[in-house]
Amino acid sequence: MNSFVYDIPVKVYFGENQLGHLGEELARFGRRVLLTYGGGSIKRIGLYDAVMAELRRGGFEVSELGGIAPNPRIDSVRQGAALCKEKHIDVLLAVGGGSTIDATKWMAAGALVDHDPWEFFSRWAPVEKALPVVTVLTLSATGSEMDSGGVISNPETHDKIGRMAAPLLPKVSFLDPTNTYSVSPYQTACGAADMLSHIFEVYFDMAPGLYMLDTFMEGLVRTIIRYAPVAMREPENYEARANLMWASSWAINGFINGGRAQAWSCHPMEHELSALYDITHGLGLAILTPRWLEYCLDETTAPRYAQFGTAVFGLDASEPPMAVARDAIKRLADFLFGTLGLKSTFTEVGIQAKDFPVMARKACGGDVLPGFKPLRQADIEKIFEMCL
Ligand code: NZQ
Ligand code: ZN
Repeated sequence: MNSFVYDIPVKVYFGENQLGHLGEELARFGRRVLLTYGGGSIKRIGLYDAVMAELRRGGFEVSELGGIAPNPRIDSVRQGAALCKEKHIDVLLAVGGGSTIDATKWMAAGALVDHDPWEFFSRWAPVEKALPVVTVLTLSATGSEMDSGGVISNPETHDKIGRMAAPLLPKVSFLDPTNTYSVSPYQTACGAADMLSHIFEVYFDMAPGLYMLDTFMEGLVRTIIRYAPVAMREPENYEARANLMWASSWAINGFINGGRAQAWSCHPMEHELSALYDITHGLGLAILTPRWLEYCLDETTAPRYAQFGTAVFGLDASEPPMAVARDAIKRLADFLFGTLGLKSTFTEVGIQAKDFPVMARKACGGDVLPGFKPLRQADIEKIFEMCL
């Protein structure tokens, strides 16, 4: 195994009735707050009013930027960065799902540079600093509440690009599972598929890892498989929502990497799908994942799948690894498309084969995706074909 650094300095308030701490946390950074949110779900569930009451109680000077879309656009980032400069914002408060949090992180970085925020993606402009970001999470999926990443779309160039940078790590995140009671069964399912993929991108790797982290990841997967259907059936089941929420953070906050340096595979492929077709991130991942696993399966990789199948689905470890591996992929597909009810093909979501070459080329940066199995453009096109 590799040596590694563990450094996840995000303060988390988990559970109900924690919002009373919002004022004291924001006050550590200043008085002028930019409140950001999406298309209005926070108003419908009363969270906007609750947050505003805390902000009033703390005597903050509040500016607002709502309307951040799923697959957030660079235009929102530009708008937010400009607002931060104009209003001399001290701290940004993102209330919403991954899209709101991601866009807010890049507003926080854009506020402190003179160039267009898109240059963080187009020419990889350095991210040396950012204004502090505090989050109130409303959807369990991306883990943006506890990681340093943010994914931004540019409809003009058909790009959707993710980038991590330490200054973007939220300073504080409020994780109240009751704020996710209103998440629809469909978004709950997509969130589960996203979390699973975050784990698979790390778990499916042939480098020797840590047994401790393997079992941790298998436990996270079992947690998601156990509780996502419960949350879909009983949206106000606190135990289910709480388990999913904490799993979403730990699937991607860096802990499970444990020094593995492997690049991700399904995410770069999916980002091309949502860049061009604006589909939900978790849905794209759900369609890709079983096909990607099938494509990467061979005699060398089969034992890894077999470990997964026995640990997660209780398959028989005494069977030949290839047979267990195939069964594990089938069980996973049954979970995603049967239990979660997600669409299972590109055809059903309108993704067309004519776009495969360009999406595949962009996914591997015109070269190779050095993941579980190195994937070149031709490999990615084949995986896309399997999804039709
Ligand atoms: O916009 P509003 O009205 O808030 O509605 C949203 C949106 O329509 C709704 N929603 C959120 N919380 C809700 C709710 N509806 C009812 N009740 C609530 N409590 O759900 C819809 C989807 O929201 P969004 O924020 O887009 O979803 P998600 O959290 O899945 O974020 C997806 C984005 O994050 C990126 C994805 O690529 C995508 O752009 N990712 C970010 C990552 C990161 N920062 O590390 C990693 C991920 O792999 C991912 O790429
Ligand atoms: Zn994801």
